[in-house]
Amino acid sequence: MLQLDGLGYRGKTVVVTGGASGMGEQVARILGELGALVHIVDIQPPKVPCAAFHACDLSDFAQVRATAQVLKAVAPIHFLFPCAGLPPHLKGALYCMRVNYIGTRLLVESLLPALADGAGIALISSDAAMGWQKNLAQSLEMLAITDPDEAYAWCEADPEKRVRDGYTTSKEMLVVWVSHAAVRYGNERRIRFNAIGPCPTKTAFMEQSLATGAVTEEFLDAWPYPSLGRMATAEEQAWPLVLLNSPLNGAVTGAFLYTDQGFASGAMVGAIDMAFMMGAKKA
Ligand SMILES: NC(=O)c1ccc[n+]([C@@H]2O[C@H](COP(=O)([O-])OP(=O)(O)OC[C@H]3O[C@@H](n4cnc5c(N)ncnc54)[C@H](O)[C@@H]3O)[C@@H](O)[C@H]2O)c1
Repeated sequence: MLQLDGLGYRGKTVVVTGGASGMGEQVARILGELGALVHIVDIQPPKVPCAAFHACDLSDFAQVRATAQVLKAVAPIHFLFPCAGLPPHLKGALYCMRVNYIGTRLLVESLLPALADGAGIALISSDAAMGWQKNLAQSLEMLAITDPDEAYAWCEADPEKRVRDGYTTSKEMLVVWVSHAAVRYGNERRIRFNAIGPCPTKTAFMEQSLATGAVTEEFLDAWPYPSLGRMATAEEQAWPLVLLNSPLNGAVTGAFLYTDQGFASGAMVGAIDMAFMMGAKKA
């Protein structure tokens, strides 16, 4: 049992989506060891111990609403960790948008009445979102669509422009949504809302990306890893989520924290030579 009670999770109710694998699984494990009551939402059953598993496909909006309804019975929920997501080439770009952004947003918004005032939400975006500023006008247009079916129809109407590969856009949408909602949730309920942006991380997601050829070993080997000298592990992404969402970080909300070994900030100031991207496939 970890002895880090000061982080504020002991006896608290938390919900982790994607808790059956990878980063979400490690978040669920760590929080369980810190004494939290962990509810896992996923399409596959978890391997780590938890208070309850809620089978739910985030691409199915009726299931998402039903799961939120069930979770309201365990209110107040103190912390949310939306970790579920999938890479672009498994089920298509529109599906990727549906799970990574639209379904995830629907679950969070449906759970708002069940969240405690002062709750924390920390989700996973990606380094893929580092160009979010240049697409802000379109992202704000989509953000304004609050109904999930309407948001999906808006994507379907012009996928080439509004969805692109599905993954990058979904992760940019998460960053823009977090920044917006953090202000509103903070003012209304003192709820904090933050995101991390991981570098390539050794999980099932990455295995699937390699298997479909969306990413190559050569590309991953060429990626710069200043702090670890290698790809991150799921646990090395779970800790920043757990630390970010701790009430110790009362002044931190609306943050997009790159957990990418210095990649995005290095690229922005020219310290990282982006030439390695040329000719190599990436997710
Ligand atoms: N692995 C990486 O290199 C990397 C890099 C940047 C961001 N990310 C993001 O990290 C998050 C976690 O991914 P991971 O790397 O731990 O991968 P993972 O595949 O190990 O875990 C993803 C989890 O999401 C669940 N999930 C997938 N589709 C779902 C759906 N429709 N409904 C409910 N649950 C669903 C899966 O069952 C799985 O448990 C994802 O959002 C991913 O986009 C991953």
